[in-house]
Amino acid sequence: MSSVEIPRETWATRIGFIFAAVGSAVGLGNIWRFPFQVGQEGGAAFLVMYLLFILAVGFPAMLVEFVVGRYTERNPVGALREIGSGAWRYVGWIFIATGFVILSYYSVVAGWTIRYTVLGLQDGYLADAAEAEAQFVTLASGLDAIVLHALFMAAVILIVGAGIKRGIELAVTVMVPAIIVIVVGLAVYAATLEGAGDAYAYYLSPDLGVIAANWTSILPAAAGQAFFTLSLGMGVMITYASYLGEDRNLAEDGAIVIGFDTAIAFVTGLIVFPILFTAGVDPADPGAGAIFVSLAAAFGDLTLGWLVGAVFFGTVAIAALSSAISLMEVVVSYVVDEHAVDRRVAALAIGGGIFVLGIPSAYDLVLLDLFDLFADQILLVLGGLLLAILVGWILSDLAVEELSLGIGDLGGYGTAWIWAVRIPVVLVLIVALVLGVLDYLE
Ligand code: PHE
Ligand code: NA
Repeated sequence: MSSVEIPRETWATRIGFIFAAVGSAVGLGNIWRFPFQVGQEGGAAFLVMYLLFILAVGFPAMLVEFVVGRYTERNPVGALREIGSGAWRYVGWIFIATGFVILSYYSVVAGWTIRYTVLGLQDGYLADAAEAEAQFVTLASGLDAIVLHALFMAAVILIVGAGIKRGIELAVTVMVPAIIVIVVGLAVYAATLEGAGDAYAYYLSPDLGVIAANWTSILPAAAGQAFFTLSLGMGVMITYASYLGEDRNLAEDGAIVIGFDTAIAFVTGLIVFPILFTAGVDPADPGAGAIFVSLAAAFGDLTLGWLVGAVFFGTVAIAALSSAISLMEVVVSYVVDEHAVDRRVAALAIGGGIFVLGIPSAYDLVLLDLFDLFADQILLVLGGLLLAILVGWILSDLAVEELSLGIGDLGGYGTAWIWAVRIPVVLVLIVALVLGVLDYLE
């Protein structure tokens, strides 16, 4: 292989890094997964647990990834090899595997969002729930789904192949502001719907008894969702922070990213539940596909629903794209860094591999649910847990010092951060992992 040192790329601007991290965070997790988790896990009770986990677990864990990425300036495998000794050196592989698996089915779901955008513009949506369901089954699995999955992966390959500045940064700088504006607009629209009042009551007034009665399922779901939605446990934030050329205030950047992600998820609830309640659809219907069916049926019921629906699904597709490129970048950065492969070749080969792995999910919805559960409740939690133990318990001095670059003296905050990683993050992830494994085996 070539021995020429190619200088590693960096983000062009500070805002570029933040847009990229927000673009990664804001995705299907917010606009598809979050509302169906709320529905499945008991409404507002889930929301409360989720917000708690974002603050107590998500924020410290995001700083862990930022610090590891900026300190090593490497892909996750290279980063862990540099900071870890013994078996720790191999933890980076879990991230690569997780990114690979998640993107395989994430892309399938993203394909549905493209299909549903076109559906609204072309034919409109079917108001009858049974018909909408039958239509979803036809569109979301089999050949149609495989073709759309291929189309979406092609877009991901093009952007990631073009590089950090000219590909990813450029793309997110357009996509992220668009997502924010449209989501806010849709929430304002949803507030005018007749079912809005009931929806807000369901979504916003938690019944704490529900948490007490169902914590064994709410806890792993909320922890998994917190990690998934913030793009943690997959090495994405390690990878993106590794392209930071200079020392910035990582705590501030992390707070901005988390603020946007949480706001978009929360506001999505203000869109989805009023629409469902207005159309008389039960939000508790479980499953990955259900939210598509319920929403499509609801759009079929509303005046100008075809237009609102197309805007909604189109926005979801864009959000999915800005997340998918970050997942792919984890794997591509590894191949480019460690094996000196040309970026475009790497993107094409890896994208092709992910496409193939996604075919079972595109073929059968049951398999997609299994992939999602396995990746979200097990793989991602495992990677996050091991990294938290390594950084919190073994490398804490180094981590605090790295975090302080660009901030100055952390005072007690550095200690507070490390203890947040050592106890809440590690404990929650252990419990989530055990419950997640049990849930998976059921
Ligand atoms: N955070 C993204 C979302 O909420 C999903 C994602 C996870 C993206 C991991 C990249 C890495 O949809
Ligand atoms: Na998210």
